[in-house]
Amino acid sequence: MINLIVPLVLLLLPVWTGAQPSPEIYERIEAAIKATANQSASEIDYTQFVNPFIGTSNWGNVCPGASLPFGMVKFSTDMTGYAPAGYVADVNEWIRGLSPLHDSGTGSSLGTYGNFEIMPLLCPYGFNTCATTLQARIRRRKNHTDDAAPGYFSLTLNNNITMEATPTRRAGSERFTFPAYSRPYFVLDLSNDLPGSFAGGELNIDPERGRITIGGRYGSSFGPGRYNYNAYACYDVLDGGKQKMEEYGVWTGLAWMQKVPTFDGSNLTLNLIGGIYQSGALFSLTPPEIEKPVLNIRVGISFRSVEQACANAEEEVGSASFEEIRQRARAQWQDKLKRLEIDIPNTHPNVTQMAYSSMYRSFLTPNNATGETQGEFRDTTSPYFDSLYCSWDTFRTAFPWMGLHSAEDYAQIVDTYIDGWRKHGWMPECRANNLPGWTQGGSSADNIVGHFAVTYANEAEALGIDLEELYAAMVADAEINPPEWNTMGRQVNVYKQYGFVPFSVLDTSSTGRQTREGSRTLEYAFEDFSLRQVAQLLGKTGDVEKYTNASMSYRNIWDRFVVSDGFRGFFQKKYPNGTFAFTDPINCSPNDTQYETRPCSLQGSNVNGFYESSSWEYSWFVPHDTANLVTLMGGNSTFLKRLDHFFDAGYYQAGNEPSFQTPIGYHYADRPAQSVDRVREVVYQNFNYTDSGLPGNDDQAAMATLLLFHLLGFYPVPGSTQYLQLSPFTPKYTIHNPYLNISTTIRVENFDEKSLAEVIPEGASAYVDTVTVNGEPSPRCHFDLYDTFKKGGEIVVTLTADKERVDSCEGSLPDSLSTGGFSTVRR
Ligand SMILES: *[C@@H]1O[C@H](CO)[C@@H](O)[C@H](O)[C@H]1NC(C)=O
Ligand SMILES: *[C@@H]1O[C@H](CO)[C@@H](O)[C@H](O)[C@H]1NC(C)=O
Ligand SMILES: *[C@@H]1O[C@H](CO)[C@@H](O)[C@H](O)[C@H]1NC(C)=O
Ligand SMILES: *[C@@H]1O[C@H](CO)[C@@H](O)[C@H](O)[C@H]1NC(C)=O
Ligand SMILES: *[C@@H]1O[C@H](CO)[C@@H](O)[C@H](O)[C@H]1NC(C)=O
Ligand SMILES: *[C@@H]1O[C@H](CO)[C@@H](O)[C@H](O)[C@H]1NC(C)=O
Ligand SMILES: *[C@@H]1O[C@H](CO)[C@@H](O)[C@H](O)[C@H]1NC(C)=O
Ligand SMILES: *[C@@H]1O[C@H](CO)[C@@H](O)[C@H](O)[C@H]1NC(C)=O
Ligand SMILES: *[C@@H]1O[C@H](CO)[C@@H](O)[C@H](O)[C@H]1NC(C)=O
Ligand SMILES: *[C@@H]1O[C@H](CO)[C@@H](O)[C@H](O)[C@H]1NC(C)=O
Ligand SMILES: *[C@@H]1O[C@H](CO)[C@@H](O)[C@H](O)[C@H]1NC(C)=O
Ligand SMILES: *[C@@H]1O[C@H](CO)[C@@H](O)[C@H](O)[C@H]1NC(C)=O
Repeated sequence: MINLIVPLVLLLLPVWTGAQPSPEIYERIEAAIKATANQSASEIDYTQFVNPFIGTSNWGNVCPGASLPFGMVKFSTDMTGYAPAGYVADVNEWIRGLSPLHDSGTGSSLGTYGNFEIMPLLCPYGFNTCATTLQARIRRRKNHTDDAAPGYFSLTLNNNITMEATPTRRAGSERFTFPAYSRPYFVLDLSNDLPGSFAGGELNIDPERGRITIGGRYGSSFGPGRYNYNAYACYDVLDGGKQKMEEYGVWTGLAWMQKVPTFDGSNLTLNLIGGIYQSGALFSLTPPEIEKPVLNIRVGISFRSVEQACANAEEEVGSASFEEIRQRARAQWQDKLKRLEIDIPNTHPNVTQMAYSSMYRSFLTPNNATGETQGEFRDTTSPYFDSLYCSWDTFRTAFPWMGLHSAEDYAQIVDTYIDGWRKHGWMPECRANNLPGWTQGGSSADNIVGHFAVTYANEAEALGIDLEELYAAMVADAEINPPEWNTMGRQVNVYKQYGFVPFSVLDTSSTGRQTREGSRTLEYAFEDFSLRQVAQLLGKTGDVEKYTNASMSYRNIWDRFVVSDGFRGFFQKKYPNGTFAFTDPINCSPNDTQYETRPCSLQGSNVNGFYESSSWEYSWFVPHDTANLVTLMGGNSTFLKRLDHFFDAGYYQAGNEPSFQTPIGYHYADRPAQSVDRVREVVYQNFNYTDSGLPGNDDQAAMATLLLFHLLGFYPVPGSTQYLQLSPFTPKYTIHNPYLNISTTIRVENFDEKSLAEVIPEGASAYVDTVTVNGEPSPRCHFDLYDTFKKGGEIVVTLTADKERVDSCEGSLPDSLSTGGFSTVRR
């Protein structure tokens, strides 16, 4: 998902003035990579190779905050300006405070979470001179000192106060280091979350226990404004009695009320009934050593109550020290990261850093809020994940990647999707801040649970997933028309009636934004393919035929008369009477002269027919039947010319999900070596390990996992067990699947580091010649999960520099429905 609702915010950004993360991070990672030369794989600490700052500028929207794998809390500073994830690297932005709730990579330009900021202050003239309001308290940071690692975040303000944080799942420890002999003050903010959505709440200071509880109602960052969610925090500020709260008070706007604990010991409560307020608490703390003031604050979070927020802190942090919590977090990250074991000493350090940073982000979200449910989910017995934000982004690469190594995590998230159907009648598409967010392509959850079903058909039951129930949830998405398909499900009635989503149709049975008819038809068709795949898996013969047919609905919006740049045939939106409604295929592409002003996203005024894409871009999206797309486009040679033109003319958008598979399109026209060339170009033109090293929003690691597949040399077809073979950027790696107790090693023969370039130099060996799986020959262009990652063993990919010789699939093209592909079930 790229930028939504307010796309023009992109234009208002200042010019970057430099990378803010400490340069020492790069030195530290480089040294750690070098040190692996003398380490055995089991000794390697993979957390050392992670750079959490990748994607923290250039609209990556990555949160570098301290988090556990799937952590519900992600401690990060919040910055002024465009900062959806709280943090941005841009040195010109000001720090508002440190806060525990964030999403990572999401596209809402409003920002998401950022509730309960705490800001350390120096108030040389005393309590009643402290700068409490947002505008008054913001500060610049000390340049080039920001630091982060898995389970750790640190930022130093330009007044030399350092803030650090380390997490548990729903709580964490904060540490503040003040200049010597200074008197530490803290302001705690009740009402300023990032989107400015506060709808009322309460703050209570219990001076006896040094406990400040705070909570309220806030609005969605990416969904209908009428919905609110609850969030609560519990700040314990005395560090088990080592610190003293000398002065405290509450403030609203410029008014404040001060108390000292000795005054009468009673609680101080601030109760706000909604609206835009500036309000919160202010207190001072006396550190154990005034010559070196270091203060520890324990924070618990809950989406249910302040009592539970306090209980979470007690249970998860207890009296553990900052360093103990940090070590536990590091161990949890190591357990996830080691599932990818790259031969680091023989791999280019850039590849290692990008791969483990991507692996890290692939476990950062969604946020595990199990036990913290509210609303309809309050009493659920299923796991519960917040921030499925959005499924349209994550089905393509994020979940297929998870499927290769993390069966249990995947199963829990699938259960959360199915639980959405149990509670609402449809699976969630874009759960944001625990609320239903806007749908983009339809019910993309179908592709996520469908991919799980085909990947773990044999283990599903043991993993707690009933495939019949999973199937029922998918059928509901495909068959039951929601009264409002803006937030879940599809516009089923008219899609079924016409065989496509018609433009300008009178739909008397349901409502939603009457836009994106072209891309919704394409996404619905692919969702029908996923459903067909599960029907086939479960032996539901009649349904296989029904949904195979439905998945062909993409054909109904192919307008063979539209010509652009000399290429004929494009997907177009279509009236109910069957007449196409012409849109220039260039519209909403980077080459659109009105790109900056044309509504291309979720706006009701988007008349382009496509979501965040041009027709040029979406016209490649038929992953289940590309062979027929080749035919529609006029045959292999035109298809290949058109692919080249697509990239050369600048219609490709690396940061946009519908474009993810396009660089590998050459495979389907029997030219796999050209896919290898294109993927090298895409990686080197769009990705690197700096803060600006992502081509767009990370979108809950959609981008991270796209890069992983590119670097590791293969690519998934969601909803299927087929993977497309590419050329790895590393000579050897192993993917461990601890649930299956299976390890699969990919070894590359004739690996040539010279091939790691935007343009593969003449003579560099990079093109796939032969592939063997456990000694048996395997096709050059694709492989099946059940022969490889579900079996374990060794895949040997032999490369050559002789591109011409190997630029064919040797008679075994990847599957397409219309040429008899996907006809058998592997399990
Ligand atoms: C690895 O060990 C060798 C021999 O002890 C030593 O010379 C070399 O410097 C070490 N390399 C690294 C990167 O530590
Ligand atoms: C920090 O960077 C900003 C922006 O480049 C600059 O204005 C400021 O002077 C720098 N501060 C220091 C202490 O170098
Ligand atoms: C911060 O610390 C540095 C060095 O430790 C010192 O030079 C500088 O004056 C301090 N700045 C402030 C605002 O205290
Ligand atoms: C103060 O608040 C706490 C909850 O943090 C509550 O248990 C306590 O009874 C309150 N004390 C007073 C005097 O109201
Ligand atoms: C989510 O949290 C619950 C409760 O702690 C835990 O049982 C579950 O394993 C977690 N899930 C993941 C994927 O981390
Ligand atoms: C599927 O499509 C074929 C060809 O258009 C048609 O003959 C068949 O009846 C359809 N099957 C179903 C179940 O709709
Ligand atoms: C179909 O409907 C559109 C929009 O109302 C109209 O412009 C077009 O002429 C109609 N086509 C036919 C064949 O009636
Ligand atoms: C494209 O090439 C493949 C492999 O040579 C062939 O099987 C297929 O029929 C061709 N497609 C078209 C539309 O000509
Ligand atoms: C698209 O824009 C790029 C860069 O401005 C330009 O090189 C290219 O020729 C344009 N393509 C078309 C088809 O207009
Ligand atoms: C490694 O990455 C850095 C940062 O993007 C870049 O400057 C350098 O050229 C890269 N080296 C190679 C060999 O790709
Ligand atoms: C990283 O990529 C971004 C975006 O493509 C680019 O602006 C930046 O110059 C690159 N940095 C390095 C060091 O390669
Ligand atoms: C996992 O596989 C290894 C190697 O195949 C085997 O030695 C070990 O016993 C297996 N562990 C379990 C728990 O099955």
